[in-house]
Amino acid sequence: MADCPRTVLISGCSSGIGLELAVQLAQDSRQRYQVVATMRDLGKKGTLEAAAGKALGQTLTVAQMDVCSDESVAECLSCIQGGEVDVLVNNAGVGLVGPLEGLNLATMQNVFDTNFFGAVRLVKAVLPGMKRRQQGHIVVVSSVMGLQGVVFNDVYAASKFALEGFFESLAVQLLQFNIFISLVEPGPVATDFEGKLLEQVSTAEFPGTDPDTLHYFRDLYLPTSRELFRSVGQSPQDVAQVIVKIISSTRPPLRQQTNSRYYLLTALKAADPSGHLYVRSAHRLLFRWPRLLNLVLRCLACGCLHTCTRVQPR
Ligand SMILES: NC(=O)c1ccc[n+]([C@@H]2O[C@H](COP(=O)([O-])OP(=O)(O)OC[C@H]3O[C@@H](n4cnc5c(N)ncnc54)[C@H](OP(=O)(O)O)[C@@H]3O)[C@@H](O)[C@H]2O)c1
Repeated sequence: MADCPRTVLISGCSSGIGLELAVQLAQDSRQRYQVVATMRDLGKKGTLEAAAGKALGQTLTVAQMDVCSDESVAECLSCIQGGEVDVLVNNAGVGLVGPLEGLNLATMQNVFDTNFFGAVRLVKAVLPGMKRRQQGHIVVVSSVMGLQGVVFNDVYAASKFALEGFFESLAVQLLQFNIFISLVEPGPVATDFEGKLLEQVSTAEFPGTDPDTLHYFRDLYLPTSRELFRSVGQSPQDVAQVIVKIISSTRPPLRQQTNSRYYLLTALKAADPSGHLYVRSAHRLLFRWPRLLNLVLRCLACGCLHTCTRVQPR
């Protein structure tokens, strides 16, 4: 056992990336981590506990935490020995897709309350201790949609852009205290996330939305989104592996994309700061040449486009 395992607090471990990350860290062969895997509903802890195996109760503890509640966060931190968190992973998140006219403001605010203010709340809670000890690492599960807007994902992308701006600003100050920030930017990941979104939209009526927009959303965007998940989707295990590597690094990066097959899509924005190239290409591909878009996605899936362009992340 390592002399002094680092305490890692992770939000949103009932499924997906959070669950996989908690298990991989807790099963670290060098036992470098004490993982506090949290979820808002402990009724869902069965899958995590089963996956953790022998690590449960040894290097992994499961705790309740709703990132939208001050009391819940305070209660969770009070149960951590010494209250000291060495690594915080802000993973909890919710998605939202659909035509803007048909979404109500309360639903949009919930996305920001969870994805953005949930992370801010946790950082505020652990920061004084990290500053006192002059060490710490804050990992944020952002998204490629924190780098680049995606049609019909306006509010979700905005919540991830907010995280990117907030944490990039904070990173400068915190370096002075030897605290690192890492924004992890996955592309599509095959978790419950997509299923929950599809369930939401299958029953939603999007009142007040004109028929053309509804048609674009249901008949162009949704099939393309499904194809995107199918063709370039990553497994949560792969994303968790990238995060484990970042956590174990002595000089963690501020930004890390996880999916090389997605580099080409984010490169469009980086290649033209005016924004024309990305917006016009995305518009043409979705609205005018959806068959070409499907072909591009298939090429990305097989790796040929990635290989011939050799595009690298920023
Ligand atoms: N899947 C993707 O395509 C994708 C791509 C890029 C980035 N991401 C990001 O990756 C992160 C993890 O998502 P995932 O793909 O692993 O999806 P997931 O399986 O749906 O996991 C999301 C987790 O967040 C939890 N959560 C939601 N609201 C919460 C709250 N108020 N307090 C505490 N936990 C809460 C969920 O808990 P419940 O089970 O209680 O709902 C669940 O454990 C999110 O931040 C997401 O934005 C996902």
